[in-house]
Amino acid sequence: MLGVIQLIAIACGIVLSFFSDELDLATEPWRHGNTGSAADILHWPTDSSRDIVPAACHSHNDYWRPVPLFSALQAGCVSVEADVWVMNNDLYVGHSTSALTPQRTLRELYINPLLRILAQQNPITDFHPTLDQPPQGVFDTDPSQSLVLLIDFKTDGQETWNYVSAQLSPLREHGYLTYFNGTDIIPGPVTVVGTGNTPFNLVIANTTYRDIFFDAPLDKLSGDDNSNNNNNNNNNDDDDDDDDEDNSPYRTASPNAAQNTVTFRSPENVGQGLSGLSDSEIGPDTFDWTNSYFASVSFKKTIGRVWGFRLTEQQVDKIRAQTRAAHRRGLKVRYWGVPSWPRSLRNHLWSILVREGVDILNVDDLKSATRQDWRPKISDWWS
Ligand SMILES: *[C@@H]1O[C@H](CO)[C@@H](O)[C@H](O)[C@H]1NC(C)=O
Ligand SMILES: *[C@@H]1O[C@H](CO)[C@@H](O)[C@H](O)[C@H]1NC(C)=O
Repeated sequence: MLGVIQLIAIACGIVLSFFSDELDLATEPWRHGNTGSAADILHWPTDSSRDIVPAACHSHNDYWRPVPLFSALQAGCVSVEADVWVMNNDLYVGHSTSALTPQRTLRELYINPLLRILAQQNPITDFHPTLDQPPQGVFDTDPSQSLVLLIDFKTDGQETWNYVSAQLSPLREHGYLTYFNGTDIIPGPVTVVGTGNTPFNLVIANTTYRDIFFDAPLDKLSGDDNSNNNNNNNNNDDDDDDDDEDNSPYRTASPNAAQNTVTFRSPENVGQGLSGLSDSEIGPDTFDWTNSYFASVSFKKTIGRVWGFRLTEQQVDKIRAQTRAAHRRGLKVRYWGVPSWPRSLRNHLWSILVREGVDILNVDDLKSATRQDWRPKISDWWS
């Protein structure tokens, strides 16, 4: 385990200390094309991300960054999140409807830039006449690293699904998407995970091909679901930086949403990990790597408040149990809403989460996430 921690610490240790002009820096590496000018002798076809080492961070509310997607890639984050809304026959990206603008669509902010980056990472040249299988990913230093595109369905799950699935077509047709072929996961440069109102019944509808994976409910995996414990009742007052995967405006069951679902008569649009299936349908084997990628839950909801700057033994045990339950099913663990202030507390929590095997850190502050001041210190081993 020490080795794993060291690996992560090294991966995250690449300090990007020059965020002052984030816009230029974020896009510059991807901007130069193969123009054939003399200066290009310094470049190689796939060098756009040459100095960037991927890190186990998830760029939460990525579209708030100066340059969506690129800022996160520049920081080496292996996962980015976009909240999408179906409006006017398109998918718009934003935290709330008041934040939407005509230009900020899923296509413009994510799909098309990814197509451009991946075309650049997978050049056809005289030296390299055919495409690699699988294609190279967005990170030159680790081309096999898939980038997770976490899409938070904000509007009705069924309708949003149809738009998301259709808009992924160009990525799908280029062979850029990770997919399940009925028996195995075939990795690709981009792994799409649906959260929010993503309906589980649609995720699993096709048993021989899936390329949108589920964000499973982490607190429902361990078998001893005690999320109704005493931590649970006092967590609603300071959730300003908390996430909203389970706080959608479409929480109530919609009367006609179930019409296309034959096997499931179930709650729709109830939020992360629970849409498109009812509680009684959640068994020990419901979620695994064939249908889900992440297993996630709100830290405050399931682990509770942190008093005295330290997690209690019970809280650490719970993190450990949830992480093991997820890993047994081949899922990656993600907590959102981890207290982010004061920073020393956040660093302490991050180091514990990494120590316990949590796979990805949900990050609002890219700069400090890719700095290493939170990595486990010797003293944390006894905390
Ligand atoms: C899925 O892909 C794996 C690896 O390429 C292959 O061995 C397996 O036969 C495929 N399964 C199906 C059902 O095609
Ligand atoms: C599953 O998806 C594949 C690939 O898109 C398609 O060919 C097949 O018909 C689908 N199967 C079902 C049952 O929808």
